[in-house]
Amino acid sequence: MGDKRSSDAAEVSDDKYSILLPTYNESENLPIIVWLIIKYLTESGYQFEIIIIDDGSPDGTLDVAKQLQKIYGEEKIVLRPRPKKLGLGTAYVHGMKSATGNFIVIMDADLSHHPKFIPQFITKQKEGNYDVVSGTRYIGDGGVYGWDFKRKLVSRGANFLTQLLLRPGASDLTGSFRLYRKHVLEKLVQSCVSKGYVFQMEMIIRARQFGYTIGEVPITFVDRVYGESKLGGSEIFQFVKALLYLFATT
Ligand code: GDD
Ligand code: MN
Repeated sequence: MGDKRSSDAAEVSDDKYSILLPTYNESENLPIIVWLIIKYLTESGYQFEIIIIDDGSPDGTLDVAKQLQKIYGEEKIVLRPRPKKLGLGTAYVHGMKSATGNFIVIMDADLSHHPKFIPQFITKQKEGNYDVVSGTRYIGDGGVYGWDFKRKLVSRGANFLTQLLLRPGASDLTGSFRLYRKHVLEKLVQSCVSKGYVFQMEMIIRARQFGYTIGEVPITFVDRVYGESKLGGSEIFQFVKALLYLFATT
């Protein structure tokens, strides 16, 4: 897999990648993640834009985003803020409406998802002409760093149960670092019923159901350094509930 080939591909490609960054209290992380995305995508020569969806973060994330827009320009950094915290699923839908790319990359803004993987997702997509490329912590060199035992158990458990009940044909169902063809993501979002954390899992299940092709790239997931995750007992309950619903209906 030579670098030469992928950069040649980028030069002749009309493809454009819209990277959706939902943020809630990410003022410390945002400058770093944006800098890294720009660095890796500029190096690989692909056209891209970053769409930041901030939900009225009290820590001033939106002000930081405005500064970044001044530095990198309005073509590269698009701001689509909402007045208050309305949840991750609807943040994607909201951001997608403004996307001008034919491909969409979804990732967390807290540095758990490293931008260096984006060019690998793109290469993978082109290799197999996939509809979806999903980052996976559960094959090859993939993995999780910095989680406590409980969170590892919850993630493994959720993936194991889903594999058992739904046989989705993808190894990481709860991760959210993925690349989608834009029209595929639109279709998936329309057909997904769940809210919150379960959403990621349902997206992959539906993708399978509609016969979309899924490529996988091993990724490492590093726990956030600044701020905190919103995963708790009620999310676990929601997950199991939605899993059983999908089991019964798909
Ligand atoms: N706009 C907006 N609105 N952004 C939000 C909201 C919201 O209501 N809630 C969270 N975010 C942003 C965060 O700022 C971060 O960039 C990203 O969404 C993920 O939120 P985290 O709170 O860091 O999630 P997590 O680390 O617990 O969970 C991640 O890993 C899970 C898999 O293990 C997420 O990627 C989950 O989707 C994933 O299932
Ligand atoms: Mn996180």
